[in-house]
This record gives sequence, C-alpha cells and structure tokens, in this order.
Amino acid sequence: MPQVLLIFCLAGATHALYKQWIPDTNYENKTNWDKGDVPCGSDRVQFSSQRKVSVFVETTHAVQEMMLPMDGEIILNSGAGFYVFSGQDPGCGAGVRTKFKDSESLHWYNPALWQAAATLNDLQDGHFLFSVHEESVPCQQDDVIFKALSSFRVDTTSSQTTIPVKSVSVLGKVFDSRLEFSEYLSSGSGQLQFHGSSAVTAGNPGCGDPTGCDCGNSVNHERICSAVTCGSLSCKKPLLAMGHCCEVCGAIVTIHYTDGFNLQNYRERIRHLFLSLPQYKSIQLGMSKVLKPERLMGIIPLGSSPEIQVVILDGETGQLSEALARDMIKDVKSHGSILGITGADSQTASEPGNSAGTVVGAVFGVLIMITLIVIVVVLIRKGVVQMPPMPPMPSMPSMPSMPSMPSMPSLSRFRRSTNVSDLNGEIDRGFDNPIFDKPDMLNNIPGTDSIFMTQTGVHFVNPAYDENETDFTV
Ligand SMILES: *[C@@H]1O[C@H](CO)[C@@H](O)[C@H](O)[C@H]1NC(C)=O
Repeated sequence: MPQVLLIFCLAGATHALYKQWIPDTNYENKTNWDKGDVPCGSDRVQFSSQRKVSVFVETTHAVQEMMLPMDGEIILNSGAGFYVFSGQDPGCGAGVRTKFKDSESLHWYNPALWQAAATLNDLQDGHFLFSVHEESVPCQQDDVIFKALSSFRVDTTSSQTTIPVKSVSVLGKVFDSRLEFSEYLSSGSGQLQFHGSSAVTAGNPGCGDPTGCDCGNSVNHERICSAVTCGSLSCKKPLLAMGHCCEVCGAIVTIHYTDGFNLQNYRERIRHLFLSLPQYKSIQLGMSKVLKPERLMGIIPLGSSPEIQVVILDGETGQLSEALARDMIKDVKSHGSILGITGADSQTASEPGNSAGTVVGAVFGVLIMITLIVIVVVLIRKGVVQMPPMPPMPSMPSMPSMPSMPSMPSLSRFRRSTNVSDLNGEIDRGFDNPIFDKPDMLNNIPGTDSIFMTQTGVHFVNPAYDENETDFTV
C-alpha cells in the first residue's frame, strides 16, 4: 500500500546518520589478544610497555601475572576486577604468556572500520546502512558513536586540521558542544583514545536540509581510498559511483528532486517497498546526496549540481540490482510527483556494450568528421589549401555537398580495467548488546586468593611511569 506507506513516511523527521566505530580495545574481545583468546587464570598477561592503551574490562578475570604499559588506563566496569588463583586455574591449561595486541594503526578514515545506521535503534538491532566509501566514514553532519561499555584507540591523522562532526559519544556520554569535547580530548582518557594530527570537533550543525546534505568527505577521498583494496569484478561494464573507491557491478539510479523531497523518508520508502522483499534480500543499497560536477559539452566545468545517488549492489553480476533499479524507476514514474522527484535515470553494469551514450558519441564523431572534410574540400577549392602533388588522393570527393562516407572512425571506447571490485561488499552484521547484567561477582569467587584491583567504577591508571615495564606480579 504505497499510499499508507507515504503517510507513514511523512511522519518521519530528517536525521543525520549515526556512524559507529567498530574496533574496540576491550579486555574481553579475544581478537585483541595475540593468542586469540581472553586470558584465563593460568595465563601471564602483558601490555606492551611502550604503547598507550585504554582498556575496558567488563567483568572479573583471573590472571597469574600482569605487566602494565607505561602509560594507559584500565577502565573497570561496575563489578569488574582481577584476581589470582593460588594454584592453577582448572580449565585454563598450563597457561601461556599472552600479549594485548597493538591498536595504533586503526585510522579514522578507514571506511571498513565504521558501520552506519539511520537511528540508534537500527544501530542496536544491527540494521546497518550501506554507503559509498566516502560516506562510510563519518560525514560533517553525522553523530559519531563509540560503543558504550567499550574502549578504543583511533588515529585521526589527516591533511585537515579538524574533523568536524555533529556529536561524538564516548563510553555512553554524548558530546555535542565543541568546547566540551575539546576539553575531553585533552583529558587523560581523551588522549589515550584519540591520537593523530587532526582534532575531531563536535558541535557541527546537523543536516538541516530535508533533501539531504553533502557528506563533505570528498576532500579526504585519497586518504579514504588508500585504505581500500578493490577486488575483481565479473560484469561487462563496471560502474563508478561518486564517493566510492572501487568500480562496482550493479546499478546506479540518479534522482532529480525538488524542495518537497525528503531523503530520509525516501530511504525508508525504498526499504519498505523493495528491500524487504525476499528477492532483494542480498541487495546493498546506498542513497545519498552528491554534488555532481557539471561540464559544458563534457569539458568546461560549470560548478556542481546536487542530485540523489542510489548505488545498488548485489554481490554478483548486477542482474538483481538492475531489476531493482527498474522497479525504482517505475515507482518514480507513478509516484514521483508526490515524492518531490522530477526525474530519475539509471546506469547498469550488466548490459553488454552499447548504451545510449555510445550511440550518441558515434553520431557526433561522424558529424565532426563530415564537417572537417567539407571544410577541407571548400578550402582546397578556394585555393586556400594546396593539395600536395604526391600521393594523389583518389578518394577525395569532387562534390563538396556530397562527401562520400569516410571510413568509420574507430571509437573504441575506453575500457575500464575489470580487476576491481567493491570492497564494501560485506557489512559486518555483528552487534553487541551493551545491555547486560553485571552481578557483583567479586565477593563470591571461589578459589580467590587475593584481589589486587577492586571495582571502583572509575579509571585505573598505572601509577608507575618509569622507563621499564612495570611488572605487577601477584
Ligand atoms: C572484537 O573486535 C573486532 C575487531 O576490532 C570487532 O570486529 C568485533 O566486533 C569485536 N567483538 C565483539 C564481541 O565486540
């Protein structure tokens, strides 16, 4: 029922997107340990002495020994702590020395390290949005989320001095004022979590335009794409979407809109009308406003015009994306006027060789050739240009008004290399529910010998800042 859907959609408000940082430096995340497992009671735990690190600990853990970094913090969740076993931890084996992995090289501008959602609920439920690479990284109008009950370390190095965003949420606290967040950045925790040359600045205005806003990340295109490796493609005519680093198989629908258009509502409409259908289950669809550079006759720059770009991928040759693009165009034809859409066109990757563009190009080429020949013939006849005596040109037409057809100019189209593909083909669908029970386990752990760190709910910072590794052997 499109009508019903439309009314439902109009009730929605315009929002910027939420962009959530994926990696964490949590003690409980086994990917953070070089042995691939969270340490248990027989293990000796080592944090690299030279590294700055902020580590969130969610519950209680047994260890044999722990070496802390020179500078860092351990954030103990309510009820969390460490204890040692007097003997061996049953079920832990002989015990190993396990190191906390380095998290220095995780860059803000790596699109693979973010997930996007339209609402906080979507973020929690794992309903992530696909976007082109530039928009996978937080845009100027976006709300940036670092998971609550999570620690992290992000390198914000870029060529810009600041990275403006609407708000930043760290450990459950939302910063939406520039001053407040810059104060946080200069705090101990802030410096452990954010490092690198650029300062993230909160307090940027959100997107006030219901038709959408330009992400603003095109200045960082090179940096963003340097983190992306493109895979191989299997379609005949790969497409290049604005803001994307790799060519893709699929379809791109371009939508021209008026003031009545609402991007958020339209995104919801497409989600309800099409993406929820079983046949489109594998589809990834990214929709955003882009500033398309305009050129007179394809050469002379004329500024840029905003349009809505819809990138559709299906992880295969693009057949399915093409079907969805046709459905979307059909929808625009019948409901475009109420949606504030004036027109839409699509490019697809699966169709062979000739598109309208190629035919137009060939016709233009032939016309230009004919014109040139006519001019040359006229000039020769008027004696302006001398014909060279040798060799004779038998094919030169005698009647300027009827030039013989020159041999077809070779309009071999520039073929894009096909060994590239879309890296964003997969979105991490994992999501952690941050809401969980935290019984105070500390007081009733069997076999507890001693507790050398107790739950405080505040940060524990290694007080020993000397040059050597601090060895906390218990
Ligand atoms: C553990 O860390 C990895 C990489 O940083 C991340 O992708 C994953 O979601 C984390 N796992 C959990 C359970 O949070």
